Amino acid sequence: MINHNKMMDHNIGIQPAIEEFAQKLMYQARNGLKKHVDEFVKLKCSPVLLELGLFPNAKEITESMAAFHAVRKFLVNRGILGEKALKRDDITVLVPGDGHVPRTGALFAHRSNWRVVSVDPCMRDRDYKTKRLTAIRDKVENIEVVEDEVVIIAAVHSHAKLSESVKKAKGKHVFVVSMSCCVPDDLKWPLIRGYVDAGVWSPENNVRVYESPDNG
Ligand SMILES: C[S@@+](CC[C@H](N)C(=O)[O-])C[C@H]1O[C@@H](n2cnc3c(N)ncnc32)[C@H](O)[C@@H]1O
Repeated sequence: MINHNKMMDHNIGIQPAIEEFAQKLMYQARNGLKKHVDEFVKLKCSPVLLELGLFPNAKEITESMAAFHAVRKFLVNRGILGEKALKRDDITVLVPGDGHVPRTGALFAHRSNWRVVSVDPCMRDRDYKTKRLTAIRDKVENIEVVEDEVVIIAAVHSHAKLSESVKKAKGKHVFVVSMSCCVPDDLKWPLIRGYVDAGVWSPENNVRVYESPDNG
């Protein structure tokens, strides 16, 4: 015979533990989900970027922030770009497929000393009032080669092929950060890191960081 009273006592005993576990899990998941937005609201440059109308919604903020996060975590903080890399003036970021406005490009320009080139055939011809940022209305295939000591390609849901984008990057060291959507990565470069970024508020949240096989 099943003793229902005993089973209920047992369930009452484990119920608080399950609830606490679920609460912790939800707390951690929530923190992961909001990390880029939380960081964005603390940035000195966020009012400027919002004033410029570069971000129409939180999703776009999370995508651009995720690209910067990947560069900072896997190239800057790990010392791959040397000390005080964000202050270097010999690094250029090429942003293919940045959209109607250079949102990822402007974020990088505001958060570093780097030169930034944002390219998109739909780019609006406007003054983006951002130092070291060039916005080009064209396909990446048509631009001049971007040359610097280090060139980082930051492709956020870009519809330009990575294989075409890397042809426009010339440097002693070239890296690619890609978060693809409709156009899959077509690079055979060594992968530094590939991961799902839960802080990106889009189902297309796979981030990959590549380095050129020719890096010195
Ligand atoms: C899905 S949208 C992403 C826009 C922006 N990165 C974002 O996340 O909001 C893809 C963009 O790629 C651009 N694109 C398509 N072909 C391109 C090419 N050959 N070179 C540069 N940009 C291109 C499109 O014009 C479009 O703005």
